Formats: sequence, structure tokens, C-alpha cells
Amino acid sequence: MDSLIANSFELDVAYSKIKIKGGKALKGIIKVDGSKNSLSAILPAMCLQREGICKLNNIPNISDLQTHRDILAEIGFDSKYVGNQLMISGNAKHYEVSKENAAKIRASTLFLGALVTTLGEAFVPLPGGDKIGDRPIDIHLEGLEALGVKCIHTRGGIYAKANRLPLKGNDIFLRYPSVGATENIIIAASLAEGTTTIYNAAMEPEVVDMAILLNKMGAKISGVGTPTIKIIGTKRLHGVSHDILPDRLEVGTMLLAFAVAGGKGIIKNCIPSHSISIISLLKQSGVDIRTNNSEIFVNSNGNLKGFITNALPYPGLPTDLQPLVTAFATQCNGKSTIIDSVFMERFSHVGELRKMGCNIENKFNRIDIFGKNNLCGTNVTGEDIRSVTALIIAGLAASGETIISGIEHLYRGHSDFIGKLNEINADINVV
Ligand code: EPU
Repeated sequence: MDSLIANSFELDVAYSKIKIKGGKALKGIIKVDGSKNSLSAILPAMCLQREGICKLNNIPNISDLQTHRDILAEIGFDSKYVGNQLMISGNAKHYEVSKENAAKIRASTLFLGALVTTLGEAFVPLPGGDKIGDRPIDIHLEGLEALGVKCIHTRGGIYAKANRLPLKGNDIFLRYPSVGATENIIIAASLAEGTTTIYNAAMEPEVVDMAILLNKMGAKISGVGTPTIKIIGTKRLHGVSHDILPDRLEVGTMLLAFAVAGGKGIIKNCIPSHSISIISLLKQSGVDIRTNNSEIFVNSNGNLKGFITNALPYPGLPTDLQPLVTAFATQCNGKSTIIDSVFMERFSHVGELRKMGCNIENKFNRIDIFGKNNLCGTNVTGEDIRSVTALIIAGLAASGETIISGIEHLYRGHSDFIGKLNEINADINVV
């Protein structure tokens, strides 16, 4: 996004809402874009390059990309975004991320590991991101400290200082398989002296994608995708070319859209095995789904059964799909129960679904939905990416018009989401 587009984007966001006329069956083909969460890990990892240029392909045109590029510029990199390819040159020169940029995205935390392992110090203001509950970074900091970094809370952020460079590899057990902490430690350990082993590591495909990039750059990382990851530190990494992973959360979102609205379609450019948890839930609820290596065929007659599910770390059902699965449950016959064991306060969508006429209860991290509900379109607000998409899913099934505020969150995570839905026969606009 260049600055002209960024300005018109901000204007657009300030005045826009999403309007959906529900009740239309969906039909057609969706091509999935690159993953926001993969991008969020890959850009800080790429900062370890000392020479060459990184060419990243399949980059989604989302507002988080612009924030990342602003951070890269602050710390010494040049970036150019043309036709879904991002070219990055330069190397890390400045150790501070500004408050303005860090506040916009939670993944700014990963610049701590990247900058402290290259420059010996880093300052990153405490991150923003979605309003989905308490999001501490204590596990990140414990991991960095185990590699020989002193982390101090100061000026509303974290100042990290290496006791020496290179950092020193260590054995690190994570109390919880945090995605961000696993990524931060892998990044920092890639240039450390000796071996780092992370036990109870996150197994998410985005962690794997980031490690594949680092290995292409010259790092020595093994075991990604399992709970035990080994990193043998290297001295120098170089720029490479890499295709970002397709977004498994966009895949799940589109499958749920077809499922609630009824209809038939194909999701292309995806890795079906990354979406096995949501595919399995939809099949149990009565949706016909078939897959091959890179496509998913979905067919829903709208006759859906209630279910019980629990959002867990990968390969469990992603917490990011929990709000959308809740919207899906409104259209299932009988009772559905959904527990979120990852983010205990990711429930802002519940009150909004109730406004649309849903019979729904939420106690602690559990939601019960009593269906099938006749939802009625009304004015609702999404407070993060996933609650906006959840309300879009509900709007597809509702009678009348649903008007959704919070479009800026949608732009953070999905490229041309509204265009994609219109191509498969939805009636959705920005007003
Ligand atoms: N946690 C801690 N301490 C830490 C780190 C995490 O207690 O130091 C807790 C969190 O409070 C939370 C749980 O551990 O309860 C999971 O957090 P995790 O660190 O795994 O998540 P994250 O790295 O902050 C990434 C994604 C999220 C996604 C989660 C879980 C990115 C940029 N964000 O966040 O994506 O929900 O993993 O899969 O990769 C989204 O895309 O909408 C989104 C929020």
C-alpha cells in the first residue's frame, strides 16, 4: 500500500460500515490469500538478514502490512510492495520501535527477539492488537532471559539488553505453548551461540512457515510442527525468496460462510490439512466436505446439527474461529456448546448475536447456543477481526439488513474480503 492508498483507506474506514442483506445461498470459487499471522512472524524473522534482499510472495493487502512496513522503515529497512510481492532490503540499524506503530499490532513484540539478537538491545512499547482479553508477554520475556537477555519494563514498554553477543543457546520449557513466545525465541536463538531446545513449543503452521523462511536464510532449525524445537545458532543469515502460507483462518471463515448460508463452492489455494479441526466440526454438523491437496469442496443444504467443541492450541480448533463458529451455531438445530481455552474473554460477539435475536448464554469461557435461531438484521459492532467476520457470518443467515461497525478490524486481517463474498453471490457492501 503506498501513502496515497493508505490515506484513502483511512478516510474509507472513518466513515464506513458493512451492510449485508441475508438469506442468499452462496455459490462459486474462493481463492484464499496469504496468512496475516504468518506475515506477522516472517517480517520480524526476516530482520536477521545481513545481506541480500528478501522477496516475499503471496502477501495479503491488509492494513497490518502497512504497520509492519512502517516498523521496518523505523529500524532500517526499505520495502516495496507491488502485485502481492514484498521486497525488503537493508539490515537492522535502530533498536527502537515507536509507540504509534507498536500499539497497532500485537506482533510488534517479535521485534524484541529480532533486534536484541542482531543489535544487542531493543525497545518495544507494549503492544496493542485485538481486544480479546489479557495478553501478557511474560513467557516471551522468560525465554529471552534464558538466552542471556535482561528485560526491563520502562517507558510503557520493554527494554531488552543482551548480556553479550551472540546470545547463548539454552534449554527452554514453555509453561504454555504460546505462538508468539515460540516465534520470539526461535528468532533470537537463530543467531545465538550453541543450541537452543524449546520444549512444549507451539505447533501452529505459522510457526513452521517462519522457521522454513529462517532455514532458507541459513538458520538451522529442526522439529518445527512438533512440541520440541531445536535451533543450532548460526553467525550470518541472508535474504531469500519465500511464498507466505495460505491463510487457514480465511479458509475456515469461508467454509463457515458457505455452511450457514447454504450453497456449494470450492476453496482454492489452500492447505486443507491445516483446517482439519474446522472441517471435522462442519462434517459432524451435517455439511458435506471433500478435499484434495489444495482445494476444499463444500456443500451445505442448511440442515445443521448442534455440537460441542473447545478452542485449543493447534491442531485443536483455532480460537480465532471461535466467534465464527458461534455464529454458525446459531443456525444449528438443538444446543451447541463452545469453550475457548486459549483466550478467556473473546466473547464480544455474544451480546451482538443476542441483539440479532439469538438465544445464547455465556458464562466464564463457555458459550451455549440454543438453536435454530431466526436471526434478524440490525446494527451491530465488531471489536476485533474475528468478531467482525463472525457478525458477517451471522448477517448472511439473518433476515433483513445487518449493518456492522468496525470495518477497520476487517481490513487488518483480510484482503478484499467483501469482494470475495460478493463473487460467491452474497449481497454485501461498504456503505
Ligand atoms: N500467554 C501468556 N503469556 C505469554 C504469551 C501468551 O499468558 O507470554 C497466553 C495468552 O494470554 C493467551 C494464550 O497464552 O491466553 C495464547 O497466546 P499466544 O501467545 O499463543 O498467542 P499470540 O502469539 O499472542 C497468536 C495470533 C492470534 C491467535 C493466537 C492463538 C498472531 C499475530 N496472533 O497470538 O491471532 O489467536 O496466536 O492461536 O499470530 C488473530 O489472528 O485474530 C489473532 C488474535
